[in-house]
Amino acid sequence: MPFTIAVDGPAAAGKGTLSKGLAAHFGFGHLDTGLLYRAVGCRMLGGEDPVAAARSLLPEDINRADLRTPDVAQAASKVAVIGDVRAALVDFQRAFARRAGGAVLDGRDIGTVICPDAEAKLFVTASAQVRAERRYLELTGKGQVVTLDEVLSDVRARDERDMNRAEAPLRPAADAVTIDTSDLDIDAALSVAIAAIEEKRPAQG
Ligand code: DC
Repeated sequence: MPFTIAVDGPAAAGKGTLSKGLAAHFGFGHLDTGLLYRAVGCRMLGGEDPVAAARSLLPEDINRADLRTPDVAQAASKVAVIGDVRAALVDFQRAFARRAGGAVLDGRDIGTVICPDAEAKLFVTASAQVRAERRYLELTGKGQVVTLDEVLSDVRARDERDMNRAEAPLRPAADAVTIDTSDLDIDAALSVAIAAIEEKRPAQG
């Protein structure tokens, strides 16, 4: 039976790790919708028109190994303000959300625009400082050369663009459960999220 868990929140709040954990716990499929925007951003950096890129996105674009760089993150946030780019990506996300067997989608507008009828909605956040520290450790762990200040200003620039755009701005859905992960480790965040979702699930058995 379809069951959609919408997970939204700002960059580096822990949505990805939390969503993977939820998908594993419930046996659902997981779609990181940021990868769609990163793939379009990457093709724009390669010289393509972003709307044309969004309309012709292929599975191999989303599986590229170089989508997690700061340059691609900024490009993703820039193409994400374009209404025609967002429109081109809607059907794929909605079809995934209703797949048999349940789905977790994480992004910025899943609970508000893509799946307003999702059975469960989470808004995952953390302070900008904590998010920048986490992203800094992740990037330097992968051998990328960045400073904490650079990462913090990237996080702030993306927050600003993602929250203030006209099309599908980042904000919690009215019926979302907010989880602030500033002082929670992943296991604690996952327990809070599972408890919130269990309340929305039909009784099992
Ligand atoms: O989740 P992420 O950091 O991979 O997302 C990269 C950018 O893509 C983000 O800054 C804004 C955009 N995005 C969006 O506008 N809507 C989504 N559902 C997911 C991502």
